Amino acid sequence: MAARLAEARERTLQLVEPLSDEQLNRSYSPILSPLAWDLGHIANFEELWLVQAVDGQEPMRGELARYYDAIENPRPIRDQLPILLGADLRSYMADVRERALGVLAAIDIDGAEDPLIRAGFVYELVIAHEHQHNETMLQLLQMVDGYESPAQDDSVGAEVVVPGPEMVRVEGGMVEIGAAAAGFAYDNERPRHVVELDPFEIDRTPVTNAAYADFVADTGAEPPLYWERDGEGSWIRTARGHNEPLVPEEPVVHVDYAGAEAFARWAGKRLPTELEWEAAARGADPSRANLDQLGFGPAAAGAYGDAPAECGALQMLGDVWEWTSTEFDGYPGFEAFPYREYSEEFFGRGFKVLRGGSWATRRNAIRTTFRNWDLPIRRQIFSGLRCARSL
Ligand SMILES: [Fe+2]
Repeated sequence: MAARLAEARERTLQLVEPLSDEQLNRSYSPILSPLAWDLGHIANFEELWLVQAVDGQEPMRGELARYYDAIENPRPIRDQLPILLGADLRSYMADVRERALGVLAAIDIDGAEDPLIRAGFVYELVIAHEHQHNETMLQLLQMVDGYESPAQDDSVGAEVVVPGPEMVRVEGGMVEIGAAAAGFAYDNERPRHVVELDPFEIDRTPVTNAAYADFVADTGAEPPLYWERDGEGSWIRTARGHNEPLVPEEPVVHVDYAGAEAFARWAGKRLPTELEWEAAARGADPSRANLDQLGFGPAAAGAYGDAPAECGALQMLGDVWEWTSTEFDGYPGFEAFPYREYSEEFFGRGFKVLRGGSWATRRNAIRTTFRNWDLPIRRQIFSGLRCARSL
């Protein structure tokens, strides 16, 4: 567990290594936190759970937790909070880690009766939280001119593209949905339950830039975030202040829900429900997917052709999050654990479910049962789509 905590922190610090303190503290967008807030929040979450909750210690910095509570402090005001900056921030992160490791050394995870500690749940929670904040940080890093990741792996782009049919069939029937009772998963992925699905077809790969550009040309729809026209009228991508030609065969990304839904209709299809998505993703292998921030962008549609889901669909995991038509809510028999604010607070409030993770998602933080949710208007997230069709 100590090694995994260290690995998570190493990646977090690697992501921000090229940035100055001024860039860490700057507010780039009202819908994203300054990176310094994310860093302090990651450490404060670790203190709350691994030091205070597990060991009963008093807070190290008085009322600091108030400013790092994500619900109390919505993103537009986070740059006005008296958060930790610079050397003070770095020493707080290190102090929390030292205390957390001290607590970890003194407890017996395997013999624990407390459900928070049993099977290392609270440690998995803290590691997954840091991993998930890496992705939020990467959303903001798309807005930082000239930003380059120090941790790229060029082999991701070299994945062989395997041609195949446009859509694959999913039989449906009685399908098990959600995470099994054992192992780490979030409360919203449980309980595992059976649903009945009609057979349907789903796109074999995510929708590409080329297809989305055709849709924009045909309908006048708003292009995705970071698309601009160059002098010749061709689309370029402007993320991270670069002006790069759009790669036609890559999955489209930074699409909002209305765009995804309109594309599907234009294509004579529809978005899958999240239950259909999960049924289609059965058998997808996270170790053979473009995850973990290493490719630093999507791989071409049809990549990882040797690792299809059982139905034959490719890239169900990684590359881009996929919008589903389902509104985020609890599964039948839902029970909040370990706190209401993780999921339940967001049920039934118009958030749409996204599935599958993106290139920016750490491998540990995704599985076929994982449910992400966001407001339909959001497109700074790494969101794309694939379409479905009833049979
Ligand atoms: Fe958080």
